[in-house]
Amino acid sequence: MKIHFTDLANAAKHTSAVIFPVGEDKKLTPLARGFDKQAGGALTRALGSGRFSGKHGQHVSIAAPASVKADRVVLAGVGEAKTLDRQALEKIGGALVPQLNYLGAHSAVFVLENLKGTKVRPMDAAAYIAHGVRLKSYRFDKYHTKTPDDEKPTLTSFAVALDHPSHAEKPFAELDRLADGVSLTRDLVTEPPNVIYPESLATQCMELKKLGVDVQVLDEAAMKKIGMNALLGVGQGSAKESQLVVMRWNGLSKSAKTPPVAFVGKGVTFDTGGISIKPANGMEDMKYDMGGAGVVIGLMKALAGRKARVNAVGVAGLVENMPGGNAQRPSDVVTSMSGQTIEVLNTDAEGRLVLADALWYTQDRFKPKFIVDLATLTGAIVVALGTSRAGLFSNDDKLSDQLFETGRKIGEKVWRLPLDDVYDKQINSDIADMQNIGKDREAGSITAAQFLQRFVNKTPWAHLDIAGVAWDKKGSDIAPKGATAWGVRLLNELVRDYYEAHAD
Ligand code: BES
Ligand code: ZN
Ligand code: ZN
Repeated sequence: MKIHFTDLANAAKHTSAVIFPVGEDKKLTPLARGFDKQAGGALTRALGSGRFSGKHGQHVSIAAPASVKADRVVLAGVGEAKTLDRQALEKIGGALVPQLNYLGAHSAVFVLENLKGTKVRPMDAAAYIAHGVRLKSYRFDKYHTKTPDDEKPTLTSFAVALDHPSHAEKPFAELDRLADGVSLTRDLVTEPPNVIYPESLATQCMELKKLGVDVQVLDEAAMKKIGMNALLGVGQGSAKESQLVVMRWNGLSKSAKTPPVAFVGKGVTFDTGGISIKPANGMEDMKYDMGGAGVVIGLMKALAGRKARVNAVGVAGLVENMPGGNAQRPSDVVTSMSGQTIEVLNTDAEGRLVLADALWYTQDRFKPKFIVDLATLTGAIVVALGTSRAGLFSNDDKLSDQLFETGRKIGEKVWRLPLDDVYDKQINSDIADMQNIGKDREAGSITAAQFLQRFVNKTPWAHLDIAGVAWDKKGSDIAPKGATAWGVRLLNELVRDYYEAHAD
């Protein structure tokens, strides 16, 4: 998708569709009024007919009058002006994409004028609308070899027309680098598990070197040396080698030895459950069990791409959880890198075993300001919160509040659940320091988080259980169905709002 910004005067020059926003007051913008006149009042008539009320998501399209150098005029409902914040503007852009493809439009110009009542500056509004278009236009098509032409999207170029179009370039460029990260995460999570497995995913991470990210990969031998037996145990039934990828973006000058912010992701490239095998029905979903790692990788790409002024570490624990002659058995005991021993009572509770070593390694090696981990960790979080919020667990109120607030702002929302000694006791084991499942099925997401907490030492830490939000079966205004990359935008904004040095 080619996206650009242009002058209002160029609004309707040779484009398939010129788009005018219409609020709930159903008033035409000044330029639209001009068009309406030339078209003998066709726009006003279109507004008055049917159910169009100016609400977000509504569209009316009419053939453009002969005097206009566009094929169509689209009136796009944008709702009430005072509700036009970042999220609403992104959704306005995104919602146009299927509409324009349905019309067979190849190019479109959104006429941004007169959005009175919104607190967003026009240059930012233009960038958000364009960002929404890009996010919604994402496609994963590489394995379709026979898509008929009339099912392919037509839209290849989108412009926003506004006063001082050049002012929108900078905010958009930053969002475009963010979208690069989102797209990478969506690609990695959507790829099938015969293509994305620990080593091939580590190879993908190497690509980030081009952006100035330092990437190191620990193979099984290297992990064995430092005692990462919890992670290694999960991968031991697989023919694929486990890997730990460490990505570092140093956006602050080397002399400033600022401790980094750290992100850790669960990267189970396929979770069969291991010997505690999952039922066949729905097992295919477990290709996205590397979603946490996918987000960390996309986030590192976004931070490096936009040259964020922050030191950041991204750690991805990559394993495939398979049954087999060499697979871990329920009741095995492993010694983690921290020295703590774990009785593995259920090989399907593998994510926490991977994270145990990845978290310990991260706090020990980098002494970060904080760690946020992301993991498709428990089915129980989907029971508790559904698919519109991720579970948040934290030992730090400040970090927790920042995540909550940023989530509200960006539209990737979290809900905090408790951590407590009462839950912690549930994972004490009879024969080891802990067991990897609770004593009964109660509070499954919390006992999983308690387990992780035993591996972060005193580091400020937040755990995001993204099992319910990593994959969207329906799609939204800013994403097609499938991998959401939930978390890339949240954590990019967390860094931007609270942890980034300001430009001088
Ligand atoms: N990867 C799953 C959790 C999951 C479920 C992710 C649904 C995405 C969608 C995880 O490894 C798992 O199997 N967890 C078990 C834990 C149980 C054995 C204590 C679960 O949730 O059933
Ligand atoms: Zn599992
Ligand atoms: Zn899993």
